[in-house]
Amino acid sequence: MTTIPTLRCGVVGAGRFAAFVAHAVADLSDVRLVAVADVDEVRARRLAERLGARTAGRWQDLLTDPEVDALVVATPPVSHAEVTLAALAAGRHVFCEKPLTIDPYDATRVSEAAVRSGRVLVVDHVLRYNPVLRAVERLRPLLGEVRRLAFENDASDEDLPPGHWFWDEGRSGGIFVEHGVHFFDAAHLLMGSVPDAVQAMTARRPGSDIVDLAVATTRHPGGALATFAHSFTHSHRCERQLMRLDFGAAEARISGWIPVHALLDVWTHDTGVAEVEGLPDRAADLLHVDGHRLDGRAAIRVSVRRHAGPAAARGRGLALTIPHRACVEIDLGGEPAKPRVYAESVRAAMADLARCASSGAAPAAGSVEGWASVVVAAAARESAHQGRTIHVETVRRTAAGAPEPARSA
Ligand SMILES: NC(=O)c1ccc[n+]([C@@H]2O[C@H](COP(=O)([O-])OP(=O)(O)OC[C@H]3O[C@@H](n4cnc5c(N)ncnc54)[C@H](O)[C@@H]3O)[C@@H](O)[C@H]2O)c1
Repeated sequence: MTTIPTLRCGVVGAGRFAAFVAHAVADLSDVRLVAVADVDEVRARRLAERLGARTAGRWQDLLTDPEVDALVVATPPVSHAEVTLAALAAGRHVFCEKPLTIDPYDATRVSEAAVRSGRVLVVDHVLRYNPVLRAVERLRPLLGEVRRLAFENDASDEDLPPGHWFWDEGRSGGIFVEHGVHFFDAAHLLMGSVPDAVQAMTARRPGSDIVDLAVATTRHPGGALATFAHSFTHSHRCERQLMRLDFGAAEARISGWIPVHALLDVWTHDTGVAEVEGLPDRAADLLHVDGHRLDGRAAIRVSVRRHAGPAAARGRGLALTIPHRACVEIDLGGEPAKPRVYAESVRAAMADLARCASSGAAPAAGSVEGWASVVVAAAARESAHQGRTIHVETVRRTAAGAPEPARSA
């Protein structure tokens, strides 16, 4: 058996999420958090003590530390590009919190630097490591292509006081970049493409400059549409999320911003219904994500009504043969499972970094995925600013260095 050398990580930024990451990856045998740097020394010391790690004066000191193989970048988004570029240039692997950067030009620079460096960059897009989304993605041959995706996200602002960096577009990138990248990336996974055009609108909290409502619609090559609605206006207890996918003859309703449950309603043919009946036996494979440990609650359940309707039907001008109706439930334990599923997804992302650093393989959420989600999110931000459709290709070319003004549809 080959043993993977331990990946020794220096953590940059010892805030709330760094503590969550530290807890989530604590029992990975091939990863060790050995040093912590933060501009706030008290925070650095507190996290270092919890980890049994040492503190580093400045994050730059980690770049030349012979006992640091990788950096975990958990500062606010505005500094992700600077720290990640420096780490790659110093020959370190990087686990970068999302978003990869707040600006598409920097995203391109980071992504190119990652390729040039031969080091591994993982962006902590936790949804790429979520078993429900992986299962739905694996079931695409049964379900068909996504025709429309709608994500409704009633999120909490209870921990986000008015002065928090989250509300400052210059430091966070704004809602589409800071938070939206998760879901633009999930759409990339589930729809199999990056959109070509984006239209967005935002609204402010009454009587304030705080932008707390944001909606974007994206159009994908081939004609599929996706809508993303984020509302940072809720108490924690009133948070609600639903991702709905329309495949035509099938629909998926995925609940939780960290998905923990999905219901699929599928009209299908003889071969399809036979496949549905076999899904519970394939649950372990369908839900499998390297590094993500499922607990005993995880299951796929199905119920089938053969000949629930006449065989012949039509949709989008096409003749269909879909007499059977099936309900597929993908369940990780519902809402109570969220903290565990969230932590396991972070664990799986870090395990991906360690595995790819030793094998040279490409991670599930690497620089390409991180870059694409920033380009789409930046197009949404630009669309909301300018009040018109933004073509993703224009952002992409501008980000690659060609100065070209965004054009309207
Ligand atoms: N993947 C996810 O699901 C997820 C969830 C929450 C947050 N995040 C991301 O994690 C990152 C951190 O968020 P947070 O909520 O922990 O923020 P936070 O404000 O709680 O912590 C950030 C820390 O970085 C430190 N810092 C700031 N600039 C620094 C610098 N130049 N050098 C060293 N330290 C610096 C701050 O002092 C602070 O301790 C953000 O990018 C956020 O988007 C990701």
